[in-house]
Amino acid sequence: MKLALASDHAGYELKKQIMAYLKSAGVEFVDFGCGPGESVDYVDYGAEATRRVVSGEFDRAILFCGTGIGMSVVANKFPGIIAAVCWDEYTATASRTHNNANVLCLGGRVLKPELAVEIVRLWLEKQFEGGRHERRVAKIHQLEKENFKK
Ligand code: RB5
Repeated sequence: MKLALASDHAGYELKKQIMAYLKSAGVEFVDFGCGPGESVDYVDYGAEATRRVVSGEFDRAILFCGTGIGMSVVANKFPGIIAAVCWDEYTATASRTHNNANVLCLGGRVLKPELAVEIVRLWLEKQFEGGRHERRVAKIHQLEKENFKK
């Protein structure tokens, strides 16, 4: 499992804490910014990390902004991406087991670090259940094809 990480300034501190957790858990990742003390547009950083997932260079991404919402909107513009804002153990689990999310979006201004670590742990551990959820996710990807036709 190779993760692409990115944040804006509002997600930076939480990203740092999650990076420490990932290191301790032995999960491979690359941080695509931003760095400390910068004020940036989440769009640029979220897009950069998401592109790496679309290209196949990384398996999944974890993106951080103030709420997680901006990053999820950005990531969900990309084909093949299902980005989920998660705020507790249930949403973290269901985003994998039901939605097969390949991008996790976390809000640095709304989550306590301990809860965020638990969300990440679950999100990495839980597997897509398939079955009826497979059909639903396939319909999402079908919509994507119809709406991205040039
Ligand atoms: C930055 O102030 C904030 O708007 C951004 O981090 C994010 O919450 C957007 O969704």
